Amino acid sequence: MKRLILLGPPGAGKGTQADLLCKEFNIPKISTGDMLREAIANQTDLGKEVSSILDSGALVSDEIIGSLLEERLSNDDCANGYLLDGVPRTLGQASILEKMGIEFTNVIEIKVDDEVIVNRMSGRRVHPQSGRNYHIDFNPPKKEGVDDLTNEPLIQREDDKPETVLKRLDVYHEETKPLSDFYKKVSDGGLLVYSSVDGSKSVSEVFNDALQSL
Ligand code: AP5
Repeated sequence: MKRLILLGPPGAGKGTQADLLCKEFNIPKISTGDMLREAIANQTDLGKEVSSILDSGALVSDEIIGSLLEERLSNDDCANGYLLDGVPRTLGQASILEKMGIEFTNVIEIKVDDEVIVNRMSGRRVHPQSGRNYHIDFNPPKKEGVDDLTNEPLIQREDDKPETVLKRLDVYHEETKPLSDFYKKVSDGGLLVYSSVDGSKSVSEVFNDALQSL
């Protein structure tokens, strides 16, 4: 059974690889970013609370993420494994998952330099209903501006403006990067396997490298 965590900076390609890996292993993708954006789109109380936080590029509190995960991971579709995309993102969230008693099988870190990321974000297009990601140059949809599967329009994310991307990168280096060392230590002598892949390669090369590492 696969219980996977994808780590990496914003725009590293976590969502893109998550979709491919989840299809390969037939497991659900748990993306806290997608869950929060869905709450905002549906104007729920949670959505109203977190909307300005996402727009600013800051992180939502560990308490909110912890309760989202508790609820989502208890669903039946998680019984045979799952992939966490973009979570945990702080040492506090890693500790919440530990306290839930979850034993992860693999952590894959996707490494990409900051300069590459700023360029990638400006070309990203998203299908908001499913979270499917495209890039106008590197991973274009079959037909310009619409989702491959539903033919619905693609949008540009509010937090993909260059100044917000720089803020998200700062937050990543400060809050999330320490998780690499955290999971490397957990993997020492344990059952969890930590690996890293070069996210500056093409989408299919990164996918092959990720599969090799599993
Ligand atoms: P979230 O939605 O998780 O965003 P993120 O982690 O910042 O990552 P992204 O979705 O921006 O990028 P990605 O790595 O998935 O890359 P993608 O595949 O799209 O979070 C958004 C916000 O929600 C956060 O800022 C925070 O406020 C909040 N939040 C979410 N989770 C939280 C948590 N746990 N705790 C606290 N707050 C939380 O690829 C990017 C682009 O590059 C695409 O256009 C893609 O087509 C293209 N691309 C992908 N791979 C390649 C490649 N190999 N070569 C060329 N182009 C590529």
